[in-house]
Amino acid sequence: MSNYHIKHLEEYYQVYRKSVRNPELFWEEVAEEHFLWHKKWDNVLSWDFKKPEVKWFEGAKLNITENCIDRHLHTRGNRTAILFEPNNPEEPAQHISYSQLHARVNQMANVLKSKGIKKGDRVCIYLPMIPELAVAVLACARIGAIHSVVFAGFSSTALSTRINDCGAKMVITSDGSYRGDKTIDLKGIVDKALDDCPGVNCVLVVNRINGEINMKSGRDYWIQPLLDKSSSDFPAEIMDAEDPLFILYTSGSTGKPKGMLHTTAGYMVYTAYTFKNVFQYKQDDVYWCTADIGWITGHSYIIYGPLLNGATSVMFEGVPHYPDFGRFWEIVEKHKVNQFYTAPTAIRALAKQHLDFVEKRDLSSLKVLGTVGEPINEEAWHWYNDNVGKKKCPIVDTWWQTETGGIMITPIPFATPTKPTYATLPFIGIQPVLMDENGAEIHGNQVDGRLCIKFPWPSIARSIWGDHQRFKDTYFSAFENMYFTGDGALRDEVGYYRITGRVDDVIIVSGHNLGTAPIEDAINEHPAVAESAVVGFPHDVKGNALYGFVILKETGEGRVQDNVRKEINQIITEHIGPIAKLDKIQFTSGLPKTRSGKIMRRILRKIAARDAENLGDISTLLNPEVVDEIKGSAM
Ligand code: PRX
Repeated sequence: MSNYHIKHLEEYYQVYRKSVRNPELFWEEVAEEHFLWHKKWDNVLSWDFKKPEVKWFEGAKLNITENCIDRHLHTRGNRTAILFEPNNPEEPAQHISYSQLHARVNQMANVLKSKGIKKGDRVCIYLPMIPELAVAVLACARIGAIHSVVFAGFSSTALSTRINDCGAKMVITSDGSYRGDKTIDLKGIVDKALDDCPGVNCVLVVNRINGEINMKSGRDYWIQPLLDKSSSDFPAEIMDAEDPLFILYTSGSTGKPKGMLHTTAGYMVYTAYTFKNVFQYKQDDVYWCTADIGWITGHSYIIYGPLLNGATSVMFEGVPHYPDFGRFWEIVEKHKVNQFYTAPTAIRALAKQHLDFVEKRDLSSLKVLGTVGEPINEEAWHWYNDNVGKKKCPIVDTWWQTETGGIMITPIPFATPTKPTYATLPFIGIQPVLMDENGAEIHGNQVDGRLCIKFPWPSIARSIWGDHQRFKDTYFSAFENMYFTGDGALRDEVGYYRITGRVDDVIIVSGHNLGTAPIEDAINEHPAVAESAVVGFPHDVKGNALYGFVILKETGEGRVQDNVRKEINQIITEHIGPIAKLDKIQFTSGLPKTRSGKIMRRILRKIAARDAENLGDISTLLNPEVVDEIKGSAM
């Protein structure tokens, strides 16, 4: 029996039991067999969730890019590592082989070095989904610099906040980006952000759109001429197992974004192992994850997991609806995609279109389908299963988080029987528990509670950059000796998990995590606004959409209010990005508050969801009269 590749349910249970009985031994075996180490570890695991501190493979020396690239050169040097599909279907796809990727990453590492980047420095990457994005990420890892990729849909304010928080010295960006029929002035956004970032002394610019842009002398450089004169050799920096690999920001329920810190060896072992098993990747398969590398899904399952397995990973620059709603299926047919991994929100949007978009394409190459990022509703699950998978492809509903680094609860295709809307069973080595509000574990099946994990796994985030106390408070304080996920879940009669959604003030809109506090802060910047509260409400494509309740300093006429609505969304776009725009804005004279002054969001959520018949006990409110007013003018 191979621990590395699970093929049957029985095997899953056996390996799972082994991984839980003796996690150190289990992960040590996986690490021994499948990776290139300059030095093996002295200790497999040490941990203390009270501090919290977790260390895997301490004492080991390695470079993750040697495992992603160099290790495959003699066996698969000419095989495609990254298959780039451009936004415009007329533009040819690019097949970047492992050998070519090796040369390009090394050239980029040499450029970084020539601009003064060294081990431990932070480099912010703000690029569209073009090959240079993957190359830049890997070049940072090669040199030992800590990459912090910021999704290129974020605004200049969001970008500068992240650059300053991690203290990046360099930004890698492009002159612009293509998104469907639009072009976006990325460099303009970077320029604006950098007005507030005194620590950045170098900007490397990829030419993607031949845009007319400003280049600040002594700071900004076109990247191609620098790459052209760089050597394609670069000895990888030898890293310690626990050296930081990257920082990736995720929204919190309060305050500024959290820079989740991931380290090297554990992340490598876990992303490689999950990729292999969750997608049942076989040599020469073509795997496609439609996420953006600006999110954790792209880090772990476009770049690291696939490349660690010598896979061919498709990188798509565009959007599902350009030039029409058949684009995904056209790409699956064109590149004979075998594993396809996307978000429920995309499935819901595509399911609304004419079936002909799917039916006219040959999707017979597909073997495994995946979803990630939010709960998938039953209807979308069946549409995906019937029309895309033709009832032959298992759907892996994968639950995990930026903080977990890799997939945590998921079926294993062809082994775990799937059940619509259920993420099913914990992955190997993962020990989930459900907790009640009083901090007691809920045993047995057919129960629901707060989802926690009681034992560390190799790719757990190690800290929040610059704020370890916040890391502890957010994830390790609610329940003693547990990692708290922030999600609720139920466990059915056979032990399958179904994620029921966030139990904090994070709202998942189209698969993107959004904290309510930063959105409210943005709204409150509007000079006419006195106070605001944002909640989520169910939306048939986005999963959730945002509903803002806003108190104005002075109530104006309808027309004035309409202008304020537009301006509020403009401010949100500037502060965070268009993904955080509100679908509905209701003006009100007050917000329901407890006697201690806390907004009762539970009531607002019910009103926003048009479920205000039974609001439960509102007697503890300071101002119960406001509830009728809000209900009466709900949108
Ligand atoms: O609420 C869960 C939801 O997405 C959150 C994590 O978001 P993020 O850190 O952006 O990572 C998304 C990609 C891994 C979780 O706390 N979530 C993620 N996957 C699922 C999910 N909810 C239900 N089902 C899933 N499969």
